[in-house]
Amino acid sequence: MKHSKLVKKDLKVVWHPCTQMKDHEKIPMIPIKSGKGVWLYDYDDNKYLDAISSWWVNIFGHSNTFINNSIKKQLSKLEHVLLAGFTHEPAINLAENLISLTPKKITKCFFTDNGSSSVDAAMKMSYHYWQNKGKRSKKSFIALSNSYHGETLGSLSVSNIDLYKKTYESILKDTIIVESPDNYNKKDNISEAQHAELMFDKMHQTIKKNHKNVCAVIVEPLIQCAGYMRMYHPRYLELLREACTKYNIHLIADEIAVGFGRTGTMFGFEQAKITPDIICLSKGITGGYMTLSTILTTDDIYEAFYDEYEKLNAFLHSHSYTANPIACSAANATLELFKTKKTIEKNKALSSYMEKSFESLKDHPHVSDVRQTGMVLAIEMVKNKKNRRAYNWKERRGIRAYLHGLKNNVLMRPLGNVLYFMPPYVISKKEISFVSEIMKEGVNEATKKSS
Ligand SMILES: Cc1ncc(COP(=O)(O)O)c(C=O)c1O
Repeated sequence: MKHSKLVKKDLKVVWHPCTQMKDHEKIPMIPIKSGKGVWLYDYDDNKYLDAISSWWVNIFGHSNTFINNSIKKQLSKLEHVLLAGFTHEPAINLAENLISLTPKKITKCFFTDNGSSSVDAAMKMSYHYWQNKGKRSKKSFIALSNSYHGETLGSLSVSNIDLYKKTYESILKDTIIVESPDNYNKKDNISEAQHAELMFDKMHQTIKKNHKNVCAVIVEPLIQCAGYMRMYHPRYLELLREACTKYNIHLIADEIAVGFGRTGTMFGFEQAKITPDIICLSKGITGGYMTLSTILTTDDIYEAFYDEYEKLNAFLHSHSYTANPIACSAANATLELFKTKKTIEKNKALSSYMEKSFESLKDHPHVSDVRQTGMVLAIEMVKNKKNRRAYNWKERRGIRAYLHGLKNNVLMRPLGNVLYFMPPYVISKKEISFVSEIMKEGVNEATKKSS
């Protein structure tokens, strides 16, 4: 009863993100009462295994006792204070903790608010750096095709997925787009590293031609998550680092989705053994509790802004809730859990169990690819396996799998024709097997001929 009342009330007043609200005439809205571990519970006594970590934010499960306690402790001391002219222990500790996890050259932490705002701030920081250095012509950015960096005007400008961008194109800043090194398009007779090298030639030519006008290249290391979980080899990042250094361009690593262990290492760029100039972090940073984001950067960038006030070289970017102490305490607890639970090490076993559990889908007549990097596994459904012809997007095949999941206690939220599995790290092997069974059924439902 409460369930249906809440649904009615919600649909009267709440406008939901990334949603055609009319869809809810047919697709259920689900009010969630509580969560524990990988499970979410609604008001009708149904439970859902959160197979997508609530949009990739949840790391150590819902209502995690350790993170809860850390927040409670902080709440009894200080809920918030501005970060200009004032500071607090949770922010200082978090900055230290994050810096200690990154390469030596990363020495400064600038707090922002959410993923998109950290990308906006990273773009401003890079541009402003070059202005302060007297390189006035540097105003453009390079990004990969199929990239997603957020949906504020700045971050959407450097994104390249039509679904999110096309409608707003005329109010966005122009960005130079280079074809993604995505393995999906790799020829069978070459390795992923060779494919990355071949694809890098396009980036190299673009950088060579435009470097005088370019502030930075921005990439999502190893996985283009919102870009249908397409994946590429770390070799591309190695080559990109070399070229950015050679041509005096910043390398911005958008680790918002892949940071905090998703790719199998703490950060995706680690697999290429490189140091980006700017690193954007958010999502998993608070274990999925609260909005918070940071930009990590180098002394070189910091010092370009460090000057007499009158020169007006300071970096001007601020959010009211910058480094909120409660969010920082959740983040510090999350980082502590990574250490005490040996999460990165333990995820190796979970990740190979995920691989085994989904292996049989490779033979499915409508699956063209089952790909995986660390704790992210994706299944691409196609109309024709031989020539990989995609289903028409208007058929909305993914929604059929989504509805099958809901009926069977699994929350998945496909990206078009791509189903993916990106669970909180507290998932058990038994739960992985359960999700894989439901997802396999979901693929069958979604690819049924009659429908
Ligand atoms: C790689 C990447 N960058 C930026 C963002 C934007 O983050 P937010 O949704 O917190 O604005 C996302 C969100 O999915 C993302 O995946």
